[in-house]
Amino acid sequence: MTEYNFLKACWCQPVDRVPVWLMRQAGRYLQCYKDVRAKGGGTFLDLCKDPERAAEVTIQPIDILNADAAILFSDILTPIEPMGMKLDFVPGPVFENPIRTAADVDALVVPEDMAEAVSYVPEIIKRLRVAFEGRVPLIGFGGAPFTLACYMVEGKGSKDFASLKQMMYGDFPLYDALMKKVTEMDRRYLNMQIEAGAQAIQIFDTWGGLLAPHDFEKYILPYVQELINGLNRKDIPIIYFVKGGGGMLELVKQAGADVLGLDWHVNLGKARDILGPDIAVQGNLDPTVLYAPKDHIEREVQRILDENADRPGFIFNLGHGILPTVPPENAIHMVECVHRLSQK
Ligand code: CP3
Repeated sequence: MTEYNFLKACWCQPVDRVPVWLMRQAGRYLQCYKDVRAKGGGTFLDLCKDPERAAEVTIQPIDILNADAAILFSDILTPIEPMGMKLDFVPGPVFENPIRTAADVDALVVPEDMAEAVSYVPEIIKRLRVAFEGRVPLIGFGGAPFTLACYMVEGKGSKDFASLKQMMYGDFPLYDALMKKVTEMDRRYLNMQIEAGAQAIQIFDTWGGLLAPHDFEKYILPYVQELINGLNRKDIPIIYFVKGGGGMLELVKQAGADVLGLDWHVNLGKARDILGPDIAVQGNLDPTVLYAPKDHIEREVQRILDENADRPGFIFNLGHGILPTVPPENAIHMVECVHRLSQK
């Protein structure tokens, strides 16, 4: 049995205090991240591909925040590059040649060997396992097929991803062919991370909540199920985070993950009542609460712990990534409150 509270909580086992980490915990709100980013002189992608510096910025929030889990430093879009798409961050992601036609989908490569295609990823994972041994578990991650397809078809971030929607509703066979390729790449990519030493896997479906429940069921769920079914899970918990998924939890649960990520638009206690005792949950503090005074942060932490009402299988987190202008001392305070207020 694992000694890590984070992994115990993923399996709904009892813990002596609630584990906590923050989505996007490595990043620009930390001056030391900005220093390492500047040190190389290169771009964000150069940082992702430099195992020494990428490992360094993964460790920073563990030292500073005292978080209970680390997440590999990378981006959900880096494995799309070896599919044959040129990627830039300006700072938001941009693909030079978005996917629009059958010829574009045909031309996409699904690399046989992801450990070779993105060799910096297993290299970072191996370094981090050595650095973290006995201290914190390491979470690997990827984008869910739908969220990856959003960027591949739109070519950049968007409020509604209209190009993707046109393909999805207007040419389902083309959408299906694209999603099948992305899902297979994702399966190989996440299995490679497990093979390299990732101790949990989080699948980010940042844009999954854009769809109505019946559309989620048709256009997202089958591919995520295929992906999760195809992972060599052994004792590796799978976390599925659908931003905006709170209104369709029964469907999100059908993806087959061990843990569901919740944003802040759903009440934690109600979500747990709907989901039942056999699945863990992670969330669900509004990230902007970290701009509030310290006593307000503490009350919000207490409120969420009260909503959870001591049910096993709870991991405290933000409902989405930490924002770049949050004062680091407020994030430190949040982690300290979770530990202190939930201590058995
Ligand atoms: O600490 C961690 O959580 C690990 C690192 C991580 C990054 N991106 C680093 C990053 C993780 C887990 C991600 C996931 C990611 N990337 C998602 C899913 C989670 C979410 O936030 O919804 C998405 C949609 C992306 C795509 C992406 N990457 C966008 C939209 C942007 C630009 C917006 C922004 O936050 O800057 C990025 C860039 C990015 N990814 C940065 C970092 C630290 C900022 C780059 C910089 O240093 O300038």
